[in-house]
Amino acid sequence: MAKVTLTSIAKSFGPTKVLGGVDLDIADGEFLTLVGPSGCGKSTLIRIIAGLEHQDGGSVAIGGNRVDHLRPHERRVAVVFQSYALYPHMSVGANIALPLTMSRLQLWQRLPLLRLLSAQRRSVMRGIESDVAAVASQLQLAHLLDRKPAQLSGGQRQRVALGRAMVRNPDVFLMDEPLSNLDAKLRVHMRTELAELHKRLGATFIYVTHDQVEAMTMSDRVAMMDSGSVLQLGTPSQLYEKPASLKVAQFIGSPAINLLPAVVIAGGRLELFGRPLALTVPLAQGQAVALGIRSEALSLVHGESGGSDRASFSARLRRKENLGSEYILHFDHAGHDAVSVTMRATPAVAASVNEASEVTLGFDEAAAHVFAADDDRIEPCGQGVATAASVVPLRA
Ligand SMILES: Nc1ncnc2c1ncn2[C@@H]1O[C@H](COP(=O)(O)OP(=O)(O)OP(=O)(O)O)[C@@H](O)[C@H]1O
Ligand SMILES: [Mg+2]
Repeated sequence: MAKVTLTSIAKSFGPTKVLGGVDLDIADGEFLTLVGPSGCGKSTLIRIIAGLEHQDGGSVAIGGNRVDHLRPHERRVAVVFQSYALYPHMSVGANIALPLTMSRLQLWQRLPLLRLLSAQRRSVMRGIESDVAAVASQLQLAHLLDRKPAQLSGGQRQRVALGRAMVRNPDVFLMDEPLSNLDAKLRVHMRTELAELHKRLGATFIYVTHDQVEAMTMSDRVAMMDSGSVLQLGTPSQLYEKPASLKVAQFIGSPAINLLPAVVIAGGRLELFGRPLALTVPLAQGQAVALGIRSEALSLVHGESGGSDRASFSARLRRKENLGSEYILHFDHAGHDAVSVTMRATPAVAASVNEASEVTLGFDEAAAHVFAADDDRIEPCGQGVATAASVVPLRA
């Protein structure tokens, strides 16, 4: 069993509070991803679980047992860092074997001359070589064992770092942005390899990334952190479809969610750009809210009736961004220069709009997220069918 339980983990560096009482329960065999802005405490949390840093308050339990008093190598965890941290003067094989030579050989058996005298050492080394060979073959590194790290590609180096973690057969893998030094294509490849490795090993993975796609595609659950605490913990879909706060909504999803300024009018209805919506919220009249609309929830409204549709507004196309299989269209609101909006579009839809032209954008109100001024998500109390049949479906 290697569930990981973090209870009220607190940490400060001098006067700077970095973690403010983090509680997290990570199930045995789960793939949990930590995301959040730079400096929010992700690496510090990983280092505390690994035992490389000591928390000021709270406790870490692995497999149901508190490990706060244990040193890093006693915790049955392995860490993979962004920098790989390979020893340049050692071969690939020796780099992978290192954790085993450190744990299975006595100090004197590692010394240059004395070690030649030890018969026992030879038998331990045979065991280590066979363990290294098994890991190397799983990671397709068997033909590279005699090379030095400098003679490897970035992806191969990353696999060596993974191999060094795997060879210890840890219960928990801690990975701090392990793919961020790789180019985009290799990252996609390693993403799949890591996901398959996780499945094959059945170990618990705690993974830090800045990459939206990594977080969304690999994780069982995602913990979004900000300023040293967990803002929301849930499946990737829960965070994407029901962000608990404006901060989560803004962080999860690429392109970032569109935020439109709306205001509460009589009866709790929302008004967007001077037009009432069907959405009603349990807030007092006059309050400002942000209406969050994902770029795929917007569509072009054709025909004259579109102009008077409640869930629509005028916008001017500023730029088309060609992603190959689809376009991201960048609009400015026709009357509010400060409001810009992105919309995903098929190449055919993108071709139907000219730059600088004014169009009507529509959205399904059921797909809109409402956030109060204090950042919290507001569940609407009701809504009508706002968009007319004139809204053209994007992905029909
Ligand atoms: N050893 C240290 N001494 C002082 N401050 C530190 C130390 N380590 C981290 N910090 C500070 O703690 C905060 C959290 O750092 P941490 O490395 O955990 O952030 P992070 O979420 O991993 O950021 P990034 O996404 O940039 O890697 C930062 O403000 C950082 O400057
Ligand atoms: Mg970090």
